[in-house]
Amino acid sequence: MTVRLGDVAPDFTAPTTQGEISFHEWLGDSWGVLFSHPKDFTPVCTTELGYVAKIKPEFDKRNVKVIGLSVDPVDSHVKWEEDIAETQGTPVNFPMIGDPDRKVADLYDMIHPNANDTLTVRSVFVIGADKKVKLTLTYPASTGRNFEEILRVIDSLQLTANYKVATPANWEDGDDVIIGAAVTDDEAKQLFPQGWTTVKPYLRVLPQPNK
Ligand code: BEZ
Repeated sequence: MTVRLGDVAPDFTAPTTQGEISFHEWLGDSWGVLFSHPKDFTPVCTTELGYVAKIKPEFDKRNVKVIGLSVDPVDSHVKWEEDIAETQGTPVNFPMIGDPDRKVADLYDMIHPNANDTLTVRSVFVIGADKKVKLTLTYPASTGRNFEEILRVIDSLQLTANYKVATPANWEDGDDVIIGAAVTDDEAKQLFPQGWTTVKPYLRVLPQPNK
């Protein structure tokens, strides 16, 4: 099944390293990041999971729950987590889904047979508090992901969910933003009484409104 932006994230029940979860119930009112890795006891995945564990407070700050997945079973994840703690200096502090029957992997189209017909690719799904998919990313097995970029996108998604603005190239939290293209100047005067700079009629820039 292809999961696209704006779709309701498919719900599922699955075993994890922190017990069985029902995904939507587990998310509750939080945002979520569901990410897959190809295989346990592999080097790139080891560094990725250690890194996510290290920066978990950054996800917590943004009210985002993180959950990993591979097609290996939970008992394998549990053994591997000992190595991750040892080599990456942080215990894995978020649940990892065991998906040996590929139930969740198929639901989220995480197996791309022309890349590998049995292992999941490196998928990322950012899910909003409304359970809708806000971002999808797909990386190959050979390239570890940049989780700082995922935090950056979450900052943009959460800002633009609350204000009628968009964020420019390479934007980071605190940088100037752009008034959304659908917002007329009259509406913008109501929304942003502090004013903005018109670079072009379609490119109107202002300081980040919640700073
Ligand atoms: C890795 O995590 O290093 C990896 C996993 C599967 C295939 C290739 C690399």
